[in-house]
Amino acid sequence: MNIAVVGTGYVGLVTGTCFAETGNEVICVDIDADKVEKMRQGEVPIYEPDLEVLFERNQRQGRLSFTTDLKQAVDHAEIIFLALPTPPGADGSADLRFILGVAAELSQMITRYTVVVDKSTVPVGTGEQVHAALAEHLSEDLFDVVSNPEFLREGVAVDDFLKPDRVVIGTSSSRAEESMRRLYEPFVRSGNPIIFMDVRSAEMTKYAANSYLATRISFMNEIANLCEIVGADVDAVRKGMGSDSRIGKRFLFPGVGYGGSCFPKDVQALARTAGQHDYSFRILDAVMNVNDYQRLRIADKIEAYYGEDLKGKTVTLWGLAFKPNTDDIREAPALYTIDRLLAAGAQVRTFDPEAMDNVEALYGDKVVFCEDQYEAATGADCLAIMTEWSVFRTPNFDKLKGALSKPVIFDGRNLYDLRRMVEAGFYYDSIGRTT
Ligand code: UGA
Repeated sequence: MNIAVVGTGYVGLVTGTCFAETGNEVICVDIDADKVEKMRQGEVPIYEPDLEVLFERNQRQGRLSFTTDLKQAVDHAEIIFLALPTPPGADGSADLRFILGVAAELSQMITRYTVVVDKSTVPVGTGEQVHAALAEHLSEDLFDVVSNPEFLREGVAVDDFLKPDRVVIGTSSSRAEESMRRLYEPFVRSGNPIIFMDVRSAEMTKYAANSYLATRISFMNEIANLCEIVGADVDAVRKGMGSDSRIGKRFLFPGVGYGGSCFPKDVQALARTAGQHDYSFRILDAVMNVNDYQRLRIADKIEAYYGEDLKGKTVTLWGLAFKPNTDDIREAPALYTIDRLLAAGAQVRTFDPEAMDNVEALYGDKVVFCEDQYEAATGADCLAIMTEWSVFRTPNFDKLKGALSKPVIFDGRNLYDLRRMVEAGFYYDSIGRTT
């Protein structure tokens, strides 16, 4: 099929590349001419495992191309995906400026029946606004608006897209339903469902899914904090709970709070949507509250350990990205931790396999960026683990102990076995487990 994807951020780029991979002809559009030129030269603008191979292959074989010319893409496409940013506005609700702006342009450009798909995470009711913007200059039989929320995770985005647990399609048009079914069938050969519903329900599904996952995380973070107080081990509790098939094992890991470009924004936006309809979504307020607390949990622990003496101490952070396998630092708990440590007069040394350039752009020489994890630990008073990169999972503990000036570790991701750490002579503080 002939596809256009407007917006080449994380979602747009993965969507376009993966649709090309199943044989569709895809044109990706972006207003950023520099970025488009670089992509034409074969440069993938984001770090995402597996994307580069697919990007290169499909571009070489002519199924994936890039332009700044929206009209060219519109003339090519039977289906146009809108994968545009929806940043939180001043009041926490999603800013629809980009989406409605492009919809208004499309209204002047579409000349034959086209399906316009909202791929971005947009509040309930946006589909109708897009419909109204398109109808401004277009006859209603020339288009349908579909909501098709994306559930991919950064770091495993390509795999998530190619093998989705489910595809959610919101539409009331059987013609659009048929096009979307044809497009997505190759991705659900395993038998996973394409779930059709109305546009509003599809929009809500995305917020409900992300907010529920964020709720699980905040809930487990509170269980972990309480485990520390009562002397229980959250790892055991997690396994005990997760083995109940009604609960499930995944997404029950306590840590330093959720970050990234999705959960914080989406939880806030759903709470805001509720507020706009005079409904107070009490659980979400608590979820956000817990997360604000948890992302500073490691900094709190370090402050409690050193008290006034933290001034002048050197703290090493392993991991900066909000999670492994990405260079994304948006809402990363590590940044909140750095701010607190610097404010307390501590020095910060750090290593992250992918995210250091992004953090350096924000902090410059206020933070020391190192070549590897041992160099980062050299001479430091303690180590704090912020991101569970695989390379941190089995370090050479003798080497680490030799590098640190004191064998003190605050582990925000519960990477190591408690007993072994004590035997190895470390002061080892993790989340929800007591030595
Ligand atoms: C999330 C959702 O998982 C995707 O399904 C969704 O499509 C995406 O948002 C989106 O809306 O675009 P993502 O933000 O890439 O994906 O990252 P996750 O892997 O979900 O992790 C989010 C945060 O939760 C991370 O900070 C992670 O460390 C934290 N987390 C996750 C925990 O603290 N504990 C867990 O058990 C799982």
